[in-house]
Amino acid sequence: MVKNTDFLVVGSGIAGLSFALKAAEKGRVCLASKVSIDETNTKYAQGGIASVMYEPDSFEKHIKDTLIAGRGFSDEDVVRMVVSESPDRINELVSMGVVFDRNSDGKYDLAREGGHTEHRILHHKDNTGEIIQETLSDKVRNHPNIDIYEHHFAVDLITQHHFGEEVNRRREDIRCYGAYVLDTESNKVFTVLSKITVLATGGIGNLYQTTTNPVIATGDGIAMVYRAKGIIENMEFIQFHPTSLYAPGERPSFLITEALRGFGAVLKNNDGEQFMDRYDERGSLAPRDVVARAIDTEMKTRGDDYVLLDCTHLNKNELLEHFPNIARKCSSMDIDITKDPIPVVPAAHYLCGGVKVDTYGESTIHNLYTVGEASSTGLHGANRLASNSLMEAVVYAHRAALSSSERINDIEFQPSVPEWNTKGTSHPEEMVLVTQNYKEVQMILSNYVGIVRSDLRLARALRRLEIIYRETEELYKKSFLSRRLCELRNLINVGYLVIKMASERHESLGLHYTIDYPGKDELPGKEGVEF
Ligand code: FAD
Ligand code: SIN
Repeated sequence: MVKNTDFLVVGSGIAGLSFALKAAEKGRVCLASKVSIDETNTKYAQGGIASVMYEPDSFEKHIKDTLIAGRGFSDEDVVRMVVSESPDRINELVSMGVVFDRNSDGKYDLAREGGHTEHRILHHKDNTGEIIQETLSDKVRNHPNIDIYEHHFAVDLITQHHFGEEVNRRREDIRCYGAYVLDTESNKVFTVLSKITVLATGGIGNLYQTTTNPVIATGDGIAMVYRAKGIIENMEFIQFHPTSLYAPGERPSFLITEALRGFGAVLKNNDGEQFMDRYDERGSLAPRDVVARAIDTEMKTRGDDYVLLDCTHLNKNELLEHFPNIARKCSSMDIDITKDPIPVVPAAHYLCGGVKVDTYGESTIHNLYTVGEASSTGLHGANRLASNSLMEAVVYAHRAALSSSERINDIEFQPSVPEWNTKGTSHPEEMVLVTQNYKEVQMILSNYVGIVRSDLRLARALRRLEIIYRETEELYKKSFLSRRLCELRNLINVGYLVIKMASERHESLGLHYTIDYPGKDELPGKEGVEF
């Protein structure tokens, strides 16, 4: 089965939907999402979206904060471009119907988060992502030029490789002609031929046992580009959010937004000590990498399962007004946030690296763009500044739509693409093998490639992962496609990239901290702790 479309967009979070709405003004869009279009990381975003709105804030201040958080590893030109284009993109979101909270004077109620020197986070209470997702999904559902394919899983990109040519990472003329897409309800594989293909497939949180990401975040787009021989970079920079609700066994982990610390909540250990002051002069509002590592160290040296986030000293009414969802969730666990400190632990949250793209979101494969969390634009460097990712997604979706729309009329469909070959495959006898290997991958990454790393742990992780890689490839070759098997394969691919890039970085920088090369990112007064 073959389907032709001008634009194939894979992924329906803020990046995919924003791109689709703009591209649909120029051509026909096919939007594929592996589950319903509303289940995305975007939906869970709490804190909000960063943008400079009023004085005393300025672009220069936002640029400086982003560069400092990124530990000097960001691309300054990209930072300048994204920060200065974001107010226009915010205005577009508002004109599409996204509602951000305002004060009684009509101005936006701007929140502050770790690493920001000004209040600049636009938000809707503590469920900003849900509002953005609902608004954009609704627009897309009603757009006459967009065909929505829910429960359609993109498996692999189509390149010259599929006509029998040798394609390797040194080739500069690799072209993308579309993708093979599995309808997970009928189990049929479609060949989608597209002039432009856009991956907006989000992050990789499910590489870890504890993550704030929903189960869809399995790094599929990154793995597809890697297999198609595109360039992937900066995979070692995985951001652990310092404060997810401690609730063993719950997936995804419920996020306790950093905006709560911006509002005055403070981190304490189980003896009631405000331990962050020992680690950083910015205390509970230091950048995320510093806070997550400090919590990790504190928990390991004390043998505690969690630390506490205390908001009991804050104004009760204002607290409940600003953070109703957090209050509700905690209350369901018998925690009254106006009276009890909240038990929190770090959780895998965001990937700073991904598919290397240019300033218009195009990857190193021609006619293939990547936007949103799956991309590596140079904005975040070695550590993302809070609430800069939604901003990056809308700025790059806009730029990718501009660039690809200009070129769409010059691109021809590739007519002679072979259909997906199912010869020699059958149903896997035991799905338990897939489930078990998935858990083992998470265990390996969590135990050996977490917040604190070492050469020994990384080498061990690679050896363990290789065994699972071989087993899974064997199973893949002889099995009908299934979403779970493909996700496992993708997680193994991205896990390999994380370990490889972490092993090659012989320094501690931002989110990559190794006890073998502690350097300037060593926390004061504490040794990195072995586990
Ligand atoms: P997503 O929103 O994750 O969407 C990915 C899409 O791709 C989904 O539709 C998925 O089904 C689809 N997909 C994936 N693989 C395939 C495949 N193989 N085939 C078909 N479809 C596929 N950032 C901020 O800036 N501010 C915040 O306040 C904030 N809070 C956050 C809170 C939480 C709990 C989490 C998890 C993240 C938060 N982030 C925040 C980060 C931010 O939400 C994400 O980086 C951003 O939403 C990613 O958007 P995206 O469009 O790139 O991907
Ligand atoms: C949060 O609300 O703390 C998450 C913000 C982000 O990840 O940018």
